[in-house]
Amino acid sequence: MIDGEDPAEETTSTGDQDVAVPEVPALAASLFGPAVDQVGRYVAMLAGDGVVRGLIGPREVPRLWDRHVLNSAALAEVVPQGSRVVDVGSGAGLPGVPLALARPDLTLTLVEPMARRVEFLQDVVTELGAPWRVIRGRAEERSVVRAVGSVDVVTARAVAPLPRLVGWCRGLLAPGAQLIALVGARAAAEVPGLVPELEAAGMRDVHTRAVGVELGAAATTVVLMTRAGTSRSGRSAG
Ligand SMILES: C[S@@+](CC[C@H](N)C(=O)[O-])C[C@H]1O[C@@H](n2cnc3c(N)ncnc32)[C@H](O)[C@@H]1O
Repeated sequence: MIDGEDPAEETTSTGDQDVAVPEVPALAASLFGPAVDQVGRYVAMLAGDGVVRGLIGPREVPRLWDRHVLNSAALAEVVPQGSRVVDVGSGAGLPGVPLALARPDLTLTLVEPMARRVEFLQDVVTELGAPWRVIRGRAEERSVVRAVGSVDVVTARAVAPLPRLVGWCRGLLAPGAQLIALVGARAAAEVPGLVPELEAAGMRDVHTRAVGVELGAAATTVVLMTRAGTSRSGRSAG
């Protein structure tokens, strides 16, 4: 039995039990525009297959929208127009999938090492008819860096502490590229103390920003930083 189940909600079968699919909240229409149906299908997949395959705990189902989907889409306001985005450690597609559905101008690649998560991500891409690439591997692997190619923004949520995350993502972050990590308000408070270490690891302009304030409970905090150095075009990015 799922905590907080609303009898009015639709259900999806997980094989041996029915799981409630949380209703699409009213503000999703303005946030996702024409992609709101796709987001609803994605949430149904998370509540169904995502639970069956162990990617989402059943207790997360009632809070899929606030805690996961809207919380991820809150990133949309800080990603520059037309960016090539790689979502590292995407798991079941968070934050990459909601971000790309809210921002169809972005080019998205999802990177994830675990086979059953990669299978789920490929199913999501197929089900939604989305143009996103899914690459299996760890962010720091050369083969992954080669396969991903040039990126403008690396996103991550709940993947690793920031200094370790920066270390893993170095190969993906060319000078001038941004790392945007969803951390929440509590972890954001620790960021000032990490700045010297992050700068020593080659990052600059490390700062936090509240995002999604109009999303109520889904509002969160991101940490943004830019890879220092000179870009291939010869322009100084640091
Ligand atoms: C706690 S989960 C978070 C998943 C998703 N970002 C979310 O917020 O729901 C961390 C994810 O990072 C992945 N991961 C761990 N080490 C990684 C690495 N070196 N490169 C890329 N992904 C990694 C794990 O397989 C896992 O899916």
